[in-house]
Amino acid sequence: MATMRVAHSFSELRTLLPSPRTLRTWLVPTMGALHEGHGALIDRAKSEGDFVAVSIFVNPLQFGPGEDLDRYPRTLEADLAFLERKGADLVFLPTAGEIVAGNSRITVSSGPVGKLFCGRSRPGHFDGVLTIVLKLFHLFSPEGAVFGEKDRQQLFLIQSMVRDLDIPTRVVAHPTVRETDGLALSSRNRYLTSEERSRAALFPTLLDQAARLWRDLPGHPSQNRLEVCDTISRRLSEGGFVVDYVAIADRETFLPVTGPVIPDQAFLLAAVHIGKTRLIDNRELSTGV
Ligand code: PAJ
Repeated sequence: MATMRVAHSFSELRTLLPSPRTLRTWLVPTMGALHEGHGALIDRAKSEGDFVAVSIFVNPLQFGPGEDLDRYPRTLEADLAFLERKGADLVFLPTAGEIVAGNSRITVSSGPVGKLFCGRSRPGHFDGVLTIVLKLFHLFSPEGAVFGEKDRQQLFLIQSMVRDLDIPTRVVAHPTVRETDGLALSSRNRYLTSEERSRAALFPTLLDQAARLWRDLPGHPSQNRLEVCDTISRRLSEGGFVVDYVAIADRETFLPVTGPVIPDQAFLLAAVHIGKTRLIDNRELSTGV
């Protein structure tokens, strides 16, 4: 097995990347504190390309004031061992000094969808995500990149950016990897106390319930379907979560579905707080017609 290469700077990266003519490079951008969700993305990248690069960078541009930038888990040694085991070919560990210094003037705008749902509670978050992802795409010129469906709005916005800005990188979506009780793996799950961790399983359970409710209301007026959000929101509050939002987004436009017409395909999106931790998850909704 070839040894994994580690690049800390743009110039190191340039010398370590293969020529696109010889190998198809696939990229998996991450913020580290790696888990099997990231691992699944890496496996997917390996099945698509010949050379798999993983970036680890806790991107300050996507954190707002008072958010968890300072306490975001940083587990570099374990991450490198994980990536070695996974068979990644290259790890990129940029420094903030190089990748975001002087980034105050030109940034990517995530447009109207970037201001909805998570973007409403985290102003500027998606502009920060898209700005760093665009930079990574320029630095790597990857044939493709893999992103998780767990971050559904992020995925939609990255797909939109690639399409709207004619970026020659394929974006592949990978399904959410979950714990056995349904909780989506997340670097932030480390923040949960053991008591919060056991209660957290109610979040995916209620989203499953919502998806079933949505499907099993055939022929019901839109208003009844939209009441699913209120029902689930109430049950989440009763379960001890502080609800940030529960909403339905149109699959094509990602705009909120408010009736009177209900699309056949939509996403149920939700964000909650449990103690000091913010969790997000989503479900694909279909009316079953
Ligand atoms: P991070 O939260 O580290 O996630 C990196 C990638 O892993 C994202 O594409 C995310 O959707 C995916 N991922 C996280 N948990 C997952 C799970 N349980 N199952 C499947 N995929 C999962 O998302 C970011 O970092 C950043 O915003 C980034 C894109 C790197 C830009 O800074």
